[in-house]
Amino acid sequence: MEIYAKRFTKMALIYLVLGVVMGVVIGTQPEWSQRLRFVHIHLNLLGFMTMFISGVAYHVLPRFNARPVPWPNGVKYHFILHNAGLLGMASTHLAGGLWSGGILHAAFVMFAVMTGAGLLIMAGNLYFVLTPAKEDQ
Ligand code: HEM
Ligand code: HEM
Repeated sequence: MEIYAKRFTKMALIYLVLGVVMGVVIGTQPEWSQRLRFVHIHLNLLGFMTMFISGVAYHVLPRFNARPVPWPNGVKYHFILHNAGLLGMASTHLAGGLWSGGILHAAFVMFAVMTGAGLLIMAGNLYFVLTPAKEDQ
């Protein structure tokens, strides 16, 4: 699981670079904002911020509360779903997937559900870590 804590944090830094570059591009070409805004915001907030928090939380919280995550493989699934989902959402949105309907919109929704599923796995795993066993209360 520890390797995924590092992978999340490294990917977060990569998304930060991509998100910041995209922010600068929007700043210089505001007419591209309609296409790039969603991608800029989600690379930064879902890519950098949420992944950085996840990576640090997976490392720190089990030590903080002396409780391992109940489903260690879930961390790997979260990593795969979060990255594939975010990159898929970003590329289908860039291609106009949120508004075009049809197969592109269906693909956008599928990637959105993948990302959401990854985040639900994280929420479940970390909530358990912070919940003391009955005898600890
Ligand atoms: C050098 C770095 C950055 C630049 C140049 C930049 C640039 C921009 C620009 C030009 C917009 C307006 C887009 C529009 O009106 O369509 C924007 C919006 C936004 N950016 Fe960035 N950005 C940067 C970094 C970040 C970071 C690090 C985050 C988050 C961690 C972030 C989060 C947001 C959000 C949430 C919005 C939408 C704000 C709203 O709804 O009004 N940005 N950014
Ligand atoms: C599964 C995860 C997520 C999905 C599927 C998702 C999807 C969306 C969609 C479809 C929109 C509307 C875009 C538009 O109108 O063009 C949106 C907007 C937004 N989302 Fe997300 N989002 C997710 C997670 C997050 C997270 C974790 C954050 C922040 C930490 C966030 C921050 C925002 C913001 C600030 C906007 C407003 C953008 C704007 O003002 O144009 N989203 N999101």
